[in-house]
Amino acid sequence: MADSTPCSVHCAVEPALPVDEFQRVLVESGLGAIRPIDDRPRLQKMLDAADLVLVARRGGPDGEIVGVARAITDFSWCAYLSDLAVCGSAQGLGVGHALLDEARRQLGPQVSLVLLSVPEAVGFYERAGMAHVADAFWYRRTR
Ligand SMILES: CC(C)(COP(=O)(O)OP(=O)(O)OC[C@H]1O[C@@H](n2cnc3c(N)ncnc32)[C@H](O)[C@@H]1OP(=O)(O)O)[C@@H](O)C(=O)NCCC(=O)NCCS
Repeated sequence: MADSTPCSVHCAVEPALPVDEFQRVLVESGLGAIRPIDDRPRLQKMLDAADLVLVARRGGPDGEIVGVARAITDFSWCAYLSDLAVCGSAQGLGVGHALLDEARRQLGPQVSLVLLSVPEAVGFYERAGMAHVADAFWYRRTR
């Protein structure tokens, strides 16, 4: 549940995000329900192999971590936003939007940003101006 105080959020590239913090944000955001939160080696590999790890901290660069975005990209043509998660205590305060903005800033105008949304977040991405893609295809992971 979000509090009502204004949120000063600081977003930055943090490739060394500790796996414990990644796991905590996934759990506290609710996204942990569909991420391998009990498999730390797999979570660590998700961080290590990511091309862009963004962290949102409340109140400034040394503040509490309240959000994470993780992308796979070549920084030249395309990027896949594999995780965007904001802790429940900070949802609705602009943190998700700030992470999305920072991801676009880091990627630049030559790079398209694609993602798979959970049904509950579709309105968020629509609000952010992202376009639905009808002709997208994927193989589901099997474990
Ligand atoms: C979805 C999520 C990333 C949004 O982040 P957030 O910090 O709560 O969202 P923001 O405060 O930046 O919201 C930005 C705008 O989107 C709107 N919005 C936020 N969540 C929304 C939702 N689920 N549906 C519709 N609109 C939403 C806000 O009202 C706000 O609108 P405004 O610009 O008119 O004020 C966050 O709620 C979250 O982590 N949810 C659980 C995990 C999840 O679903 N992640 C996405 C996986 S695809």
